[in-house]
Amino acid sequence: MVCVMRRPVSRIAGRDAELAILGEALDGVRAGRGRAVLIEGEAGIGKTAVLDAVLDRLGPAEIRVLRGACDDLTQRFPLSAVAQALDFRGSLSSSPGRGRQPRAPTGPDAERAPGPDVALVPGDPALAAVERLLELVHALCARGPLVLVLEDMQWADQASMLFWQRLCRVVPQLPLLLAGTRRLMPRAPGAGPLAREVRDSGGVVLPLGGLSPDGVAAMAAELVHARPGPDLLSWLDSAAGNPFYIRELLDAAARSGALRVVGETAGLTTDAGPGSATAAETASLRQVVAGRLDFLSADALRVLRIAALLGPEFPVSDLAAITGQTATGLLPVLDDAMAAGVLESARSRLRFRHALLQQALYEGMPRPARVSMHQQAARSLIGQGAPADRIVRQLLAIPGAEGGEDWEADWVAANAAELAGRLPAVAVDLLERTLSRLRQADPRRNSLEVHLADVLFLLGRYEQVDEVCRTVLPLVTDPDQYGRLTWLRGYALLRLQRYADAAGALDAAAAHPGISAVWQARFAALRAMVLQGPGTATSDAEVAAAVTAASESALAAGRELGDATAASYALHVQSIQHAGNHDLNGAVQLIDQALSLVSGDPLLADLQLLMIYNRVAFTSELGLFDEAWELARKTLATSELSGSPRLSTLRANGGVAAYELGRWDDALAEFDAVGGMEPESQAMLYSYKIFIAGHRDDWAEANRQLRALRALISEGGAVWALWSPRATILAAEALVSEGTGDPQQALAWLAELAPREEGHAPFRHEALPTLVRLALGAGDEPLAQTAAQTARWEADQTPLERQSANAAWCEAMARGDQRLVRQAAASLHGLRMPLAEGNALEEAAVLLARAGDVVEARAVLDGALQLYAQLGASWDARRATARVRPFGVRPGVRGPRRRPSSGWAALTTMERQVAELVAAGRSNPDIAAQLLISRRTVESHVSRILGKLEVGSRWEIRVPAS
Ligand SMILES: Nc1ncnc2c1ncn2[C@@H]1O[C@H](COP(=O)(O)OP(=O)(O)OP(=O)(O)O)[C@@H](O)[C@H]1O
Ligand SMILES: [Mg+2]
Repeated sequence: MVCVMRRPVSRIAGRDAELAILGEALDGVRAGRGRAVLIEGEAGIGKTAVLDAVLDRLGPAEIRVLRGACDDLTQRFPLSAVAQALDFRGSLSSSPGRGRQPRAPTGPDAERAPGPDVALVPGDPALAAVERLLELVHALCARGPLVLVLEDMQWADQASMLFWQRLCRVVPQLPLLLAGTRRLMPRAPGAGPLAREVRDSGGVVLPLGGLSPDGVAAMAAELVHARPGPDLLSWLDSAAGNPFYIRELLDAAARSGALRVVGETAGLTTDAGPGSATAAETASLRQVVAGRLDFLSADALRVLRIAALLGPEFPVSDLAAITGQTATGLLPVLDDAMAAGVLESARSRLRFRHALLQQALYEGMPRPARVSMHQQAARSLIGQGAPADRIVRQLLAIPGAEGGEDWEADWVAANAAELAGRLPAVAVDLLERTLSRLRQADPRRNSLEVHLADVLFLLGRYEQVDEVCRTVLPLVTDPDQYGRLTWLRGYALLRLQRYADAAGALDAAAAHPGISAVWQARFAALRAMVLQGPGTATSDAEVAAAVTAASESALAAGRELGDATAASYALHVQSIQHAGNHDLNGAVQLIDQALSLVSGDPLLADLQLLMIYNRVAFTSELGLFDEAWELARKTLATSELSGSPRLSTLRANGGVAAYELGRWDDALAEFDAVGGMEPESQAMLYSYKIFIAGHRDDWAEANRQLRALRALISEGGAVWALWSPRATILAAEALVSEGTGDPQQALAWLAELAPREEGHAPFRHEALPTLVRLALGAGDEPLAQTAAQTARWEADQTPLERQSANAAWCEAMARGDQRLVRQAAASLHGLRMPLAEGNALEEAAVLLARAGDVVEARAVLDGALQLYAQLGASWDARRATARVRPFGVRPGVRGPRRRPSSGWAALTTMERQVAELVAAGRSNPDIAAQLLISRRTVESHVSRILGKLEVGSRWEIRVPAS
């Protein structure tokens, strides 16, 4: 008999093109140039085999290879495959915080419900874990090239997808081959973006189809050690080129004696016995796989079925625990299973040689038998004190209606806290099914329900939080638990924007007997937040009075009782109130008081980020851009590992402050590092990228960003006109129109901003001076006057230096008074807004030139040009020079020499610092720690540095000898 199975395939057939692509990617990694590859195709088509074949070519210890595999159950265990690959044994949990989604990075933020498009919510421990795993990859790559394989990504959970996506973005700057495999069915959520991320990062998506007829023949020849005859080949047609199927068919034929080698040719006998495979039969894959199992003893089959419950890979100790045998006792059976090609060893564990074998064994059992075996397995594992993950795996396989045994409830109750922090989604399932089985009077109920409410909140499932709390609260006797559940419910309702319901719930709870003073104070603080939502009072004055009363009582009580939660939330509410009354200084002071209370308290970490974000927004509005930028930068660096989605908003706001300060590359680095944003915020980021590119006279880039912005707007439909960054978007459109030679169109874009409009319109006051200039240029004086009046009206509404300076500037231009324009420029100088200051000086120079004061005009123009030079604002310099030239004014200083676009001289100060550290072999997290910036900011810098230095890897970055 020819035995196919035991022969290793020394050569992989029919995949030369794929092997060449992968080999090239691996060569790149050897040279420090990372790449992502995604291999796709049906089960058994050879995804793993192709990858193995390439990795087998590596010399011993040449490149570190780390592998993890997802399976259908790991979807419930966030990041388990990634952690397995990276051998990450640390806790994947983080302290739970409360949070919300990113939003338009403008204006204060009281509290908002999550938007629809971010699946992981703040507080989900998986977000923090993603950050830590990314740091680990950076650290590993600093030691040398790395191959990171994530197999079977069709089953990857959302957090793993996020990890993959983040890693794809940095892969070109690391010596990393990021290799994924996945079947195309079943489609996991996020399957589409996965391939896109790979392509966007410059990686390859490799679809594998069936082997060609030559490939099939070569593979068969390799396996049977003879040339396959035509009858054998035509029989193998039924495999449609699927190597797994081909191999199983050949093995089945060999086992049954149907395979015969005559001379150098292998063919099929026609006289094989009953049950044998013949050319006439085209057995299904499942039958062929099952055929392999027919050869096993009853004992081996029993043990293998139990093993199939444990997943594609398992420790022998688990199998021993469940079968009630010792590991030694199992040996003969396991040996048989390995000899039959069903199992193989994988480090200290065993695994099925192919998932299809596990599947055949699993599905071969009648369903009721499966359920009771899972129950038995769970019980045995609990008895053995096995890790929670492995027990949970068994419990989750038991359908809800059939679980809920008493021992299960005991175990869930004892492990609820750990599960809630580590595997929140799993915890919800287990808690819900356990609770549905427990009697109302069961003493375990209360604590399980509190855990459930907590974990639902953590996952952002606010409707359910409300539901659970409503059912449970009437039954809760412990006042502290009552307080906690009420807080969760009130907060959930606040996030759902059900303000009246939230207020009602808090009022009712405050009257509940036995509620402690601490909880009363916290309720008052939450009540104040709720009251700030619309619709809870009839007039603004009434709202203000109620908010003040509630927050003051919460603050007083919080201080007296030493309760940071009550006091800090109350101060947060008051800061929003002050900001609403245009008292931004007062708002900042209140935030500072609150920040001194919350620091270091993990439960208040999210409030801390929320307030820092507000502080950055307020100080920016106050024109204190340095302060805003420093705070944003420091917070991003220190809070990055929390993974909080609030950081995206903070990053965007910090970037805007950097833009105003004229630190345009720093701004771009932050904009590039921003993760997923809501469309409004994204629109704002595009606008700022357009500003920077346009002022730098890079219209190709400005137009590229403008196209992206317009695509986003058209997706937004009619609502975009209501977006808060509307003025910013119009300013971006106007800039590109003017810069590309159409000032009329630019004016048309901005004209919409001229009339007064009630309500807060962020950025409008910054766009008005340009409108005045364009209107005057077009000879439309009335429009210029209207715009100037609106600027003044805005400054009266919001009496801040920035607004006042802009208003004074507009008025001075509208009047054509160069002296007043220069005064405005001086105010803008004081506010450290170099672009605006330069623009104002330019206007003064034009007015002076027109009045014939060539000498003074030239001096003022030079001032503007110097500022433009510092910023790299070549377009502004070109425009300014052209405007005064007709009056005989020639600049005394040279306009900005364009910073070279490539080479060391093209790097900014920050980029040079980063490049020097990269050249010294430091990893991105290391560099981040040293420069007190976030790792993602460093990633943006490194990617720009690679582009500017025109090198393919960080290893090629060298500091030039000076
Ligand atoms: N081109 C090939 N030549 C020879 N043998 C192959 C080839 N491709 C795959 N095989 C063999 O076929 C079997 C199935 O391949 P593999 O496990 O790589 O499939 P897969 O696509 O990874 O499937 P899954 O989606 O189930 O993980 C393996 O035993 C492998 O060694
Ligand atoms: Mg595979």
